[in-house]
Amino acid sequence: MIDYNIFLIGFMGAGKSTIARTLVRELGCPLVEMDERIVQEQGMSINDIFAQYGEEHFRDIESKLIQDLGKQEASVISCGGGVVVRPQNTEYMKQSGRIVFLSATPETVYERVKNSNDRPILNGHMNVEYIAQLMEKRRRLYEEAADFIVSTDKKTREEICQEILDRLEETNEI
Ligand code: S3P
Repeated sequence: MIDYNIFLIGFMGAGKSTIARTLVRELGCPLVEMDERIVQEQGMSINDIFAQYGEEHFRDIESKLIQDLGKQEASVISCGGGVVVRPQNTEYMKQSGRIVFLSATPETVYERVKNSNDRPILNGHMNVEYIAQLMEKRRRLYEEAADFIVSTDKKTREEICQEILDRLEETNEI
């Protein structure tokens, strides 16, 4: 069992949700899917929150949740892709756990998200160029927040999960 949170961060489509589900099977700890939790608590879709109240309001809800997660049972947490845009979120995550950056190329991300309509940040910009630009803007934030980085391109979920467990073990953290 773990006694700290494992936060999976990275761009939309980096595989955070899939890897989080695989990790909890190995670790036997709770799973928190941040976006799902927000949808449940607000009783609205992410698209509707953005459309009715705007991105800043969504970021406020996200920050409050990340802060609360530090006070709950140790879990694997699949974060929303924009969690690092507020520096205080990174501070909260560092205080309660380890942060793993799942990276992917813009082409991989595009292939994984191209048919999705529930990501307001990409609505109307569903193309590799836009994804590459936004990813570049955020890259430093992801890298600086991360305890370590795992690339997800051309790897199976089991390989990625094992890499994360090995890295945590190296530092005697599981
Ligand atoms: C966002 C990513 C989404 C969701 C929201 C904003 C972002 O999460 O939180 O649409 O700004 O990158 P996923 O990374 O799980 O798609």
